[in-house]
Amino acid sequence: MTIRWKYLIIAAILLPIIGFAFAWSGLMSVKASTGHWAVTDWVLHWMMRNSIATASLSRTPPPLDDPNLVAGAAGHFETGCAICHGSPAQLRPPSVMAMLPPPPDLKEVVPEWSDAQLFEIVKYGVRFTGMPAWPVQTRDDEVWSMVAFLRKLPDMNAQAYVKASGLHGLGTAGEVSPLPITCESCHAESRLNDESFIPRLVGQSEAYLLQALKDYHAGRRPSGFMQLAVATLPQDVLPDLVHYYATQQALPRTVTAFDPQLFEAGARLAQRGRSADKIPACLSCHDRTQANPAYPKLSGQNGAYLRRQLELFRQGLRGGGTAQHLMTSAAKNLNDADIAALSAFFGHRR
Ligand code: HEC
Ligand code: HEC
Ligand code: HEC
Repeated sequence: MTIRWKYLIIAAILLPIIGFAFAWSGLMSVKASTGHWAVTDWVLHWMMRNSIATASLSRTPPPLDDPNLVAGAAGHFETGCAICHGSPAQLRPPSVMAMLPPPPDLKEVVPEWSDAQLFEIVKYGVRFTGMPAWPVQTRDDEVWSMVAFLRKLPDMNAQAYVKASGLHGLGTAGEVSPLPITCESCHAESRLNDESFIPRLVGQSEAYLLQALKDYHAGRRPSGFMQLAVATLPQDVLPDLVHYYATQQALPRTVTAFDPQLFEAGARLAQRGRSADKIPACLSCHDRTQANPAYPKLSGQNGAYLRRQLELFRQGLRGGGTAQHLMTSAAKNLNDADIAALSAFFGHRR
């Protein structure tokens, strides 16, 4: 028995030394050109599947069938993911196919994963493969939007994809726009509706819009969609961009159906607040005639966007400019019913 213990101890000391010597010798090849052996490839993917399956066990997906979830995610996919995975509108450069492992065509592999597993992959990325993590780790709603889009991707032809992403099709009518085509692909008024998760920019103050862009750029306001959109914009074009949106004439809008009781409950809270819960009157800051330009306009903003922002403020995750703490404390004690009522009120107030 004592002799066996001795061997074990010697092996425990020697093995790391041999391993280290092998790594130091340079004999271990790191060439991507020859690919993995079939067995290495199998083991790596087996480990990846196990890890993702285990990590996603405790995650329950929210409802993902709202078609509005797809809009921002499709645009983001075209600018942030298609370079590696390709898309119905974009072939990949050959250099990408020489990556090890090569990024798969997602149309083919998405059906193999559950929603919770896709969430895990998109949010955290995949180590040792080049698959990056979502740029913002503090909020999950954008990642779920991407999962909703990925579900739809296998059934999308090029035309449906171009329509969903808003890219490629723009500008063909000979319109001259001062905007980078990407802003309009998501924010063009004609692409939005009352339940969009993408905000309307038209009619907001220049000061507020400029502040928002700087906040996204600096990471003070977390959004993977907007971070990518502003990452490569030169700072000196921002004032022109916000001037365009602030001074644009809003398109005429039809009033969509709403629950009058919910609207009334929202109106009461917005006008009076609720002192028992330390909720201030929203209209004491927002949408006044001489309002501080740092307070965004809420009337007519899209309902789903308003809901999400209020949820983010309530959790302390929204971020923003130097005055955002006012809003974080205003939203702290809102309950779900308050948020539904306030979004219905401001979303349908013209
Ligand atoms: C720099 C290149 C690159 C970018 C950009 C990229 N990916 Fe990937 N992605 C990869 C690679 C490489 C893999 C791993 C392939 C493997 O080994 O299975 C992968 C894997 C995946 C998978 C799992 C598919 C499977 O079965 O392996 C999904 C889903 C995915 N990516 C979605 C996305 C989304 C959504 C985006 C954009 C937010 C994105 N990727 C951006 C390279 C990239
Ligand atoms: C892929 C879709 C997409 C693209 C492209 C995009 N945006 Fe956005 N934008 C969004 C979404 C989604 C939000 C809401 C993000 C959040 O939750 O903070 C947003 C928010 C904003 C806001 C904040 C509005 C508010 O009321 O607080 C501004 C300003 C803005 N975008 C301007 C731009 C400009 C300028 C461009 C072009 C450089 C652009 N966006 C490109 C999707 C997009
Ligand atoms: C003391 C002033 C103040 C009060 C009261 C206030 N807000 Fe705000 N609100 C702000 C400021 C400032 C911002 C901008 C934060 C930033 O982005 O820096 C804001 C932003 C928002 C936004 C985000 C809009 C967008 O375009 O992204 C929503 C939604 C909002 N407020 C709703 C409300 C509601 C609902 C109430 C009432 C419960 C309320 N606010 C009360 C000051 C206030």
